Amino acid sequence: MARILITGSADGLGQLSARSLAEHGHQVVLHARNAERGRYAQQHVPSAEHIIVGDLSDIDATKNVADQANALGRFDAVIHNAGVYQAPPNDILRVNTLAPYLLTCLIHKPKRLIYLSSDMHLQGRANLENVKKESSRISYSDSKLYVVMLCMAVARNWSDVYANAVDPGWVPTKMGGPGAPDDLQHGYETQTWLAVSNDSRATVSGRYFYHRTARRSNPQASDVMLQERFLSLCRDITGIAFPQEIQSERRAKND
Ligand SMILES: NC(=O)c1ccc[n+]([C@@H]2O[C@H](COP(=O)([O-])OP(=O)(O)OC[C@H]3O[C@@H](n4cnc5c(N)ncnc54)[C@H](OP(=O)(O)O)[C@@H]3O)[C@@H](O)[C@H]2O)c1
Repeated sequence: MARILITGSADGLGQLSARSLAEHGHQVVLHARNAERGRYAQQHVPSAEHIIVGDLSDIDATKNVADQANALGRFDAVIHNAGVYQAPPNDILRVNTLAPYLLTCLIHKPKRLIYLSSDMHLQGRANLENVKKESSRISYSDSKLYVVMLCMAVARNWSDVYANAVDPGWVPTKMGGPGAPDDLQHGYETQTWLAVSNDSRATVSGRYFYHRTARRSNPQASDVMLQERFLSLCRDITGIAFPQEIQSERRAKND
């Protein structure tokens, strides 16, 4: 049985993933934006081990979420699920991109990392100059491109983890709306499968999945130079550097 942290698990795909994993006997830690949403999350997943609280649109609160997670010990998997769609650009940047970055850097490294993206990332553009500006002009599509880019950078740098991104499809959650055409169950099954399955198709890294099938992602996500610029930018904005273990180990060996 695995121990899994799921961000944004008060509602939608996060809550459904948590419920499914808990029903299969896994230890689940929930996360919600505030105490009230935390209570709501607990009502829907009563067997959850713990609830972490923190608003991911606030960089300091996100760092505190990482502290709370680390105080609980190590996780087998973290599902970076929390996301916003219709929100001010700065919230889109912080919740969809900087929070997964910060939590990846700060939470004790799990064995598996899953990043919720979207097929809309295919229309995203890595305009890093726009992110730098005080009032970011980032779109939802851009933010979901950056999270695939983060996933690919993690997979490249950390050979001891499985890091993968997921497009859940357009599904009827609060975000997707009631008319969303895709199947809700298929919308969370890929994340839970990547978090716990020993299937050879799930124990891979650096892939972008839709309904358990690896798909081609935006080529910008795999551009190593862009990834490095993106990681530097996240470091400059958050004050936290990405721990690039493989590169530093290689450098140490060459010295
Ligand atoms: N639904 C779709 O069609 C679709 C398609 C493609 C990708 N996705 C992606 O799938 C993921 C899950 O989406 P969903 O459809 O389940 O959306 P949802 O129903 O709106 O749920 C999003 C979750 O993220 C949490 N969250 C949002 N902002 C937060 C913040 N500042 N701090 C802490 N938690 C925050 C929400 O908390 P509250 O409930 O308190 O707001 C909620 O639990 C997202 O990353 C989304 O971009 C969804």
